[in-house]
Amino acid sequence: MKITYLGHAALAIEVGDTHIIVDPFISPNELAKDIDINALKADYVLITHAHQDHIVDVEAIVKNTGAKIVSNYEIVTHYGNLGFEGHPMNHGGSWQFDFGRVTYTNAIHTSSFPDGSYGGQPGGFILETAEGNLYIAGDTALTMDMKLIPMQCKIDLAVLPIGDNFTMGFESAIIASDFIECNKVLGYHYDTFGYIVIDHDEAQSAFTNKDKDLTLLAIGEALTI
Ligand code: NI
Ligand code: MN
Repeated sequence: MKITYLGHAALAIEVGDTHIIVDPFISPNELAKDIDINALKADYVLITHAHQDHIVDVEAIVKNTGAKIVSNYEIVTHYGNLGFEGHPMNHGGSWQFDFGRVTYTNAIHTSSFPDGSYGGQPGGFILETAEGNLYIAGDTALTMDMKLIPMQCKIDLAVLPIGDNFTMGFESAIIASDFIECNKVLGYHYDTFGYIVIDHDEAQSAFTNKDKDLTLLAIGEALTI
């Protein structure tokens, strides 16, 4: 499984020959100006919640690629009304897709669309695939619900928000990695706006001091699990 960081909370994931885009917020992100959304491949677009910084490029990518949207019921219905194909889920539910099994997990956050309309409840995703198991937390606080994850699935890499203010910060993400029982963390949702700028060295040292590994990718850079 190859995971490419597209900036903020946006990811491009390759599992076998399947391409998955998560939470695309690329075209307004000055830090991601070298990413061309028209060059992205997608069979699926996964959306954790309806906030603008997670959906702004969904329509362009789906129009380009014909990708299927996977998200909560309300978000999939919203895009369905615009003519886009989707697969609706809700918390705790799993579905077997061609690339693997997806579970929509709990998150503590909010989920309104940019116009204020209801975007369901926010979530995250677990992807269980033949190439490894990935947890994408979405925007969330540290929550005891994360303790349920290792009871159901062994996670190989956890993608956790670390920018603080709108989500948990890196200190809470260290506790989250204990809850998830996964010491390998990819940080996201940091540096994009003034409220969430972090000191990379401080964050990575804090993980190292707990014998954990925090990867911070440059935008466009990838890691493989
Ligand atoms: Ni959000
Ligand atoms: Mn966000």
